[in-house]
Amino acid sequence: MFEARSKRSDPTRGVVEREAFDSAATFVDQYTVDDYFVDRAIDLAWLGVGRTHPNPLVGALVVKDGRILGVGYHQRYGEEHAETIALDRAGEAAKGATLYVTLEPCTHQGNTPPCVDHVLQSGVSRVVISTLDPDHRVNGRGVQILRKHGVEVDLGRRAERALLLNMGCFKRVMGLGMTVTLKMAATLDGRIASRAGSRDDITGEEARRFVHRLRAAHDGILVGINTVLVDSPRLDCRLLDSVEPPPAVVLDTHLKFPLASSWLDGNRTVVLITGPDAGHQKAKDLEEAGAHVVRCRTEGDRVELGDAIRSLLDRGMNSLLVEGGGELFSSFVDAGEWDGLFMFFSPALFGPDGVGLSDRRVDRARVGAVHAGISMISGDMMMSFVNGKTRRLLLDRLL
Ligand SMILES: NC(=O)c1ccc[n+]([C@@H]2O[C@H](COP(=O)([O-])OP(=O)(O)OC[C@H]3O[C@@H](n4cnc5c(N)ncnc54)[C@H](OP(=O)(O)O)[C@@H]3O)[C@@H](O)[C@H]2O)c1
Repeated sequence: MFEARSKRSDPTRGVVEREAFDSAATFVDQYTVDDYFVDRAIDLAWLGVGRTHPNPLVGALVVKDGRILGVGYHQRYGEEHAETIALDRAGEAAKGATLYVTLEPCTHQGNTPPCVDHVLQSGVSRVVISTLDPDHRVNGRGVQILRKHGVEVDLGRRAERALLLNMGCFKRVMGLGMTVTLKMAATLDGRIASRAGSRDDITGEEARRFVHRLRAAHDGILVGINTVLVDSPRLDCRLLDSVEPPPAVVLDTHLKFPLASSWLDGNRTVVLITGPDAGHQKAKDLEEAGAHVVRCRTEGDRVELGDAIRSLLDRGMNSLLVEGGGELFSSFVDAGEWDGLFMFFSPALFGPDGVGLSDRRVDRARVGAVHAGISMISGDMMMSFVNGKTRRLLLDRLL
């Protein structure tokens, strides 16, 4: 028989309580009320996706005494900026409040007047900003002006999560080449399909809607040829209102892409990246059907990722969302050719017949992922990461 141990006599009790207290204190320390409101501003910013290009996505909130007085996001290129909308909604009540904004307020006259003037006129006493704006017309001037006028500025809140909002835009403005974002969905046991050859919807509709936002935020959506052959995915943005999907790109060393694919119906730009010697007649047929065939170097009988990325950059593509499958995902992680990573987990198990997320082992240090955020989207968990190297490169100049 087991005997219940008396709590009073349990010698470990004090230690456990102290540990629990310490870990709760650490958690509270790490995630502040400011972080919470910046996270809401970032959520708002995503709503503008697909309509603000070449401008960045920006969200803003005006908060006083824990109450949200105004919200806004940049909705369309050339239209009002997020902080102006939020401040106008807050009106007179903005005096003495805190403005949370995901990007430094602008200081130049563009399609709209300088936001920094609007912020000063509103009377807010504090501004919490995720990152500076790398645009050479702003780039720290917004923060300087606010501070010069006695407004308290807190810079760098949720900076990693804010980077993921605008990674493509920031890297383009800074001349840092291609942005690669990886996105995968898996079950709790790390499976990406229930068995080889099966097409499964792993997450629910809300998570898929967010994926459609991710698609709209990139210049191209890349998949491996097996995913095309197994899933025939649509890779579109149908869950968003009137947002055109970017071109579909496939890594297909041996040109197995089917001529009968519905992607070749004339409504979609399709780019097939293949090896130097793959079927010349098939390439001709595919090009006649409307596909763009791009030949790249190979490495170990597969398209070399670096060369594929350079070829796409040369053709004006600055950002790629890589949507799997597992072989492609592991290749990008292993090669360190990524900037952002979104991982969705659905509370299901596919068991031993399921297809694994990765075809190889890559150690934590080599992956080099820095945690950016974690959230629940209608029952699915979304974790996001920034590549440590990209983080250093960008935040050195944006904080
Ligand atoms: N849950 C999810 O998020 C998700 C997303 C997508 C797919 N899936 C599932 O994943 C499965 C397919 O994935 P998979 O891992 O078998 O294949 P995959 O990653 O879709 O495609 C891999 C193939 O792409 C080609 N490729 C060319 N260059 C490459 C490179 N540098 N690195 C890697 N691949 C390269 C190779 O074929 P060649 O040598 O012929 O070129 C390789 O075999 C399906 O079951 C699908 O349902 C799940």
